[in-house]
Amino acid sequence: MRVEVIPTGSGCGAEIRGIDLREPLSDELAQRIYNAWLEHIVIFFRNQDLQERDHLQFTKYFGSAGDYMRPSTLRNNIMKNRHDAVMFVSNIRENGQPIGALPDGEMMFHTDTAYDTKIHKATTLYAIEIPSYGGETIFSNQYAVYEALPETLKKELKIREAYTAYEFGTTVKDKAEYNDPEMRSANHPVFRTHEETGGISVFVNELMTEKIIGLSNRKSSAYLEQIFAMQRETRFCYKHRWQAGDLIIWDNRCSLHARRDFPRDQRRLLRRITVQGDRPMSAAL
Ligand code: SIN
Repeated sequence: MRVEVIPTGSGCGAEIRGIDLREPLSDELAQRIYNAWLEHIVIFFRNQDLQERDHLQFTKYFGSAGDYMRPSTLRNNIMKNRHDAVMFVSNIRENGQPIGALPDGEMMFHTDTAYDTKIHKATTLYAIEIPSYGGETIFSNQYAVYEALPETLKKELKIREAYTAYEFGTTVKDKAEYNDPEMRSANHPVFRTHEETGGISVFVNELMTEKIIGLSNRKSSAYLEQIFAMQRETRFCYKHRWQAGDLIIWDNRCSLHARRDFPRDQRRLLRRITVQGDRPMSAAL
């Protein structure tokens, strides 16, 4: 079958057609897919039928599988029996407990694992059960947001770092500062250079970034609010309407993602495997 890369026509993203991901990829095809991913930031394949081993195999074309970061106390039974890298995102409940992480409702824009010093460079998500409406994942292109920022702001924040923190399980941040003893945190450049494309992207997000270091609280909040508002603008975004059998892989170094609300009484189950990455490089270097 002919392999086609079809851009979504939105702020980022492309669909790749003509590949059955259960089959091993030739070096040439794996490189073509990798390059399409670097170019489009988010790529997706429809109608796949992937067991955990197929999913892990695909992830390896992008690097080593990233460890699942949640403390073991927050893992539940379905997760305990899986490969260390596998996490389920699900609202399905057994004995009253969700069988996966991030179960319900809307989720604010964020970067996966941004609360760590080294960020997982990619996330793959495979749809097993999907509600009849809602639950779309929205991707925001952070190269494009950087390009569109006022030059004065770029200059002012070029050398700055931001304090990034997260309490596991939070989907909508409703307090100014995380303070749970199990929360994780790291400092990261506000603008980073992508180590493979050389592009500059914005690296703050509304779910995890608490403060721009070295600025007053007032100034930091004003700048962050301005940036967060731009990150939500539809011109920078692609909204993915899930179908069971979709496999998506996105680049955490230059994108954010968020989730729309969905009905609580409908099942949603996705399998997630991330890819290890490095410490973000400041765009000021
Ligand atoms: C995630 O942020 O990893 C989950 C996204 C989703 O549930 O659509």
